[in-house]
Amino acid sequence: MRVVLLGTAAGGGFPQWNCVCALCAAARDGKLPTRTQECVAVSGNSRDWWLLNASPDIRTQLVSTGALAPGPGPRETPVRGVLLTDAEADHVMGLTILRGGPDLRIHAAPPVLETLAPLRAMLDRYARWDWADSLTEGGFVLSGGLTVSARPIGAKVPKYVSAAAPPAADDRWVTAYRVEDLATGGVLVYAPCVAAWTPTLDGLLATADCALLDGTFYTPDEMGTAVRSSHGQSAMGHLPVSGRHGSLAALARHPGPRRIYTHLNNTNPLLDPDSSARAQVTGAGVEVLPDGAEFTV
Ligand code: MLT
Ligand code: MN
Ligand code: ZN
Repeated sequence: MRVVLLGTAAGGGFPQWNCVCALCAAARDGKLPTRTQECVAVSGNSRDWWLLNASPDIRTQLVSTGALAPGPGPRETPVRGVLLTDAEADHVMGLTILRGGPDLRIHAAPPVLETLAPLRAMLDRYARWDWADSLTEGGFVLSGGLTVSARPIGAKVPKYVSAAAPPAADDRWVTAYRVEDLATGGVLVYAPCVAAWTPTLDGLLATADCALLDGTFYTPDEMGTAVRSSHGQSAMGHLPVSGRHGSLAALARHPGPRRIYTHLNNTNPLLDPDSSARAQVTGAGVEVLPDGAEFTV
């Protein structure tokens, strides 16, 4: 299976448009590589490509990726659809850019499909898409020789979902995907939104050849120290990389698969290749890759 990291930053990208923290300033000065918002493309046959999430930067990401170029017919595209892990704005707004794309299939868990109902109604006016339940019993098959199963891993609800009538806690709000290449047996695990480590993630990691994981924050207080959040909120909703209970400690139990952090927030010291944070992660055998990185699983 071919995997392309189209974007590797958290919501807002890197640098973030309205941020002058030291990291964003360094990116603006060309001293650190910039990153677009988190999104991945996978293919089992190099002809049928499936997007993992649809970032607001999807247009730039598709245009700059040769494998995803349209043609040879006037409106042909190798993009077959999108697998959503959640309903966060930075993972779904790219669907509006793809509007009118013919015959796309979108997989998402039931709470995500429900919350996107207004957006779906809008998009279906441009081209009728096939909206499918990602948690369907037995998983599902993607053209190009990939088989997929989704697993519920979190109850994090997007900010735009009504606070007046909060939804019941439901761990299907956030899912992880296990994508297997039927021909080679290669397994990619994709979990860019991890609020807490769960046995489900241990199970997924145990059979993975490669795991793409939530690396949003390095420390839990990052948002509080780099920029004062207007809501006084901390790094809630994303398990930090570091610390005794952080994701790096959990990953130490799974030395087998290739492990890569993605969805890096603009406050994360991992963005700087010369940081001690990056040395720590690299020393533990876990990777941070640039936008556009392509590899085979
Ligand atoms: C998240 O990953 O926590 C969200 O995408 C935050 C946001 O709304 O940008
Ligand atoms: Mn996000
Ligand atoms: Zn910043």
